[in-house]
Amino acid sequence: MDTAGDRVPFLIFGSPLIEQAEIDEVVACMQSSWLGTGPRVAQFERDFAAYQGLQPSQVAAVNSCTAALHVSMVASDLPAGSEVITTPMTFCASVNAIIHAGLTPVLADVDPATQCIDPAAIEAAITPHTRAILPVHFAGRACEMDAVMAIARKHDLRVIEDCAHAIETTYHGKKAGTFGDFGCFSFYATKNVVTGEGGMIVGRSEANIARARVLALHGMSKDAWHRFGDAGYKHYQVIEAGFKYNMMDLQAAIGIHQLARVERNWKRREAVWNRYMRAFKDLPIGLPSPPAPDTRHAYHLFTIMIDEARCGIARDDFLNAMNARRIGTGVHYLSVPEHPYYQQRFGWKPEQSPNAMKIGHETVSLPLSPKLTDADVERVIEAIRDILTIASSERHGSPRYSA
Ligand SMILES: Cc1ncc(COP(=O)(O)O)c(C=O)c1O
Repeated sequence: MDTAGDRVPFLIFGSPLIEQAEIDEVVACMQSSWLGTGPRVAQFERDFAAYQGLQPSQVAAVNSCTAALHVSMVASDLPAGSEVITTPMTFCASVNAIIHAGLTPVLADVDPATQCIDPAAIEAAITPHTRAILPVHFAGRACEMDAVMAIARKHDLRVIEDCAHAIETTYHGKKAGTFGDFGCFSFYATKNVVTGEGGMIVGRSEANIARARVLALHGMSKDAWHRFGDAGYKHYQVIEAGFKYNMMDLQAAIGIHQLARVERNWKRREAVWNRYMRAFKDLPIGLPSPPAPDTRHAYHLFTIMIDEARCGIARDDFLNAMNARRIGTGVHYLSVPEHPYYQQRFGWKPEQSPNAMKIGHETVSLPLSPKLTDADVERVIEAIRDILTIASSERHGSPRYSA
């Protein structure tokens, strides 16, 4: 097999684009000796609020989106055991946050075209115990928020939006994360804005965000900057049993400069996305649906579907073949019910969410980082063409393919 071997560098999936400004800011932060939650976190919160068209009092920085989801679920004040409807096509963190808040996750299958939760499946999953919906704007594509919010209003449900992929997403002119009670964002190393690890909670109600802020720091009434900062020592009071979820200034130092380039990076990913769409249109692989009218896609993941019957190669063999060509890929995601914990605890079976199960078996996320050069992008395209050509010739009687 003619693979690139060790001659070309491995293309790491989701590798972030880090520039000198954030390196300098991290150094300045270290030199300031204020590493924990302080003025840089406050600036990052102000900048993020401005980007999302919110007030600074409507956002709270935390140390991951997982933390943001957990705190939002707790701050939603739902009776123990209440059911929260979410999607099976998500990262485990969405479901775990529901569980850790003492609530019960219920899955509603996705629309196979959008890969986002299907509003009709939400309606079908509602019981007298349903209290909230946790939609995930999958890959950066907005969920059908008119329909989701109409269901929430009809049944008096809370809505906590998982916006881990959706910093730049809009739906009918409104930012993802601002429809529901809470929106939860991720700045994990592969995300559209990175801080290494990091997250942000946004909220419609300032009171909810004030509560989330307290919950995210042990339940204390004042953070470290307000205790030890330059305005003089202030006592704090513990007003509930909170968590240790605060963002550090060291993380915000990266985020401030990443956020300043969010639109530039989005444009680059859009260009890569469009190049992939043109390059793959004659191949037997499934491609992402075009963004819906009057929405903005965040272009976080570019996922293709490898249906073995059409492509002549199984998805996992395709992943191995990409790896052999020194190209990193991702799987977003095996559907949630594929994992043994959920099967054992809730009796879930993948077949109960057939659309998510099929996606989970066929999906491959291609590199989409703004760090990709044009040559990197062409390398990805060539690799895919090559793998599919070999698979097809093998199918037609001249077996050549092995990963
Ligand atoms: C859909 C989704 N939700 C939640 C998370 C959790 O984000 P974090 O790693 O910031 O906790 C992720 C991260 O991969 C995600 O993709």
